[in-house]
Amino acid sequence: MANPIRIQDIAQHEGETVTLRGWLYAKTGKGKLQFLQLRDGSGIAQCVVFKGEVSEELFQNAKDLTQESSLIVTGSVRANTKAPGVPGGYEVGVEELQVLHIAESFPIAPKEHGVEFLMDHRHLWLRSRQQWAALRIRATIIRAIRNWLDDQGFINMDTPIITPTAGENTTHLFEVSYFDDAAYLAQTGQLYNEATMAAFGKVYCFGPTFRAEKSKTRRHLAEFWMVEPEIAFCSLEELMDIEEQMLVYVVEQVLAKHRPELEVLERDVSKLEAITSPFPRLSYDEAVEKVAEIREQTEDDELKAQLDLTWGDDFGSPHETELTKLFDKPVFVYHYPTAAKAFYMEPVEGRPEVCRSVDLLAPEGYGEIIGGSERIYDLELLERRIEEFGVNKDDYQWYLDLRRFGSVPHAGFGLGIERTVTWLTGQDHIRAMIPFPRTLNRMNP
Ligand code: 4AD
Repeated sequence: MANPIRIQDIAQHEGETVTLRGWLYAKTGKGKLQFLQLRDGSGIAQCVVFKGEVSEELFQNAKDLTQESSLIVTGSVRANTKAPGVPGGYEVGVEELQVLHIAESFPIAPKEHGVEFLMDHRHLWLRSRQQWAALRIRATIIRAIRNWLDDQGFINMDTPIITPTAGENTTHLFEVSYFDDAAYLAQTGQLYNEATMAAFGKVYCFGPTFRAEKSKTRRHLAEFWMVEPEIAFCSLEELMDIEEQMLVYVVEQVLAKHRPELEVLERDVSKLEAITSPFPRLSYDEAVEKVAEIREQTEDDELKAQLDLTWGDDFGSPHETELTKLFDKPVFVYHYPTAAKAFYMEPVEGRPEVCRSVDLLAPEGYGEIIGGSERIYDLELLERRIEEFGVNKDDYQWYLDLRRFGSVPHAGFGLGIERTVTWLTGQDHIRAMIPFPRTLNRMNP
């Protein structure tokens, strides 16, 4: 066995004899040739078995390989830019072949399958090219976010997943038993982040988040990953700047590292290249007017009904979708009605019916990917809001303490990873943007 390499590095080994280890993605053959498409997780390489160059036994073994059989191949790397469909422009002339396991008939053939079938076989579906491409981009998005925040001086503070109280709302809680007590899976790390913020200045938590929402939309998961920065002495305007800079960096990283994956996903990259600063910023009032105009102009009666909106309502998916179609960049919508948003949001001075909140809506109809706000830092107001929230104030004493001991204006936001991946990869549904999705109807496999 020669030097084992990963397929992603194959170009650096032209002319050398190397070993590749992986799974058979696909196979074609005619006469004296077998073309094995070998995948190793880092890429796909064409391995050519030529009857004249190998033993009878090796040639037969290659012919007998089934889809997803595991194997180790040794051979020489050569350029092949002429033949169509040679991934990466290099191939391996096979000299040795070790078959580790002949796979049973693989349920996911290169043909159309229904989504439910694919989801039932998610543990195997992950191996297909589109899934591979999207989840690699997901990993880069996560890394880019962490790198950007770390470079900007944010400190990573992980917040608890098992929590005694509601963080965002009281209706979408997953209850778990915690020894003799009831507890809830975290809906947000924000409240704890506000405590770490007062200790470290600029912090972020990054973890799984749980919402028992009975939503079956293409934007909702019951378990998703959220990054939540929290910043002391930060205004809503500064918060928008931070969100914008972070997102522009993330998009740059995806474009720099994942052109081939974006091509697999048939993503129109010109749409991503357009994501540059500045992003448009609209107040809720302005956004409501725009939605009303769109509603006025459409001849689609169904859409007209969906876009019906009274001042004070939060936007639903149809409103967000139509709004974002007006811009080729993400759009900030700020100053939402206080009643439509979470209890901790700072009211606008002189206009308490709206609050210092901001959502970032992704273009092309993708809608909200970030929610954020300035936080109430006055003790009495926060106490009042907690009472209105309908929970036991005693449970929030530690949170109220943050307003008793050196309260400062501060702000933060939460970015949903899977929604961001859906948008950047140009997919139409959130469910495959996480390795094993948890949705209203599914927690298997
Ligand atoms: O707007 P949300 O609910 O904000 C919060 O939880 C704040 N505590 C964040 C903060 O200020 N620290 O959620 C933030 C983001 C949304 O914009 C969306 O991207 C994502 O989390 N999100 C979901 N993603 C998938 N499935 C769901 N059910 C989601 N709910 C929210």
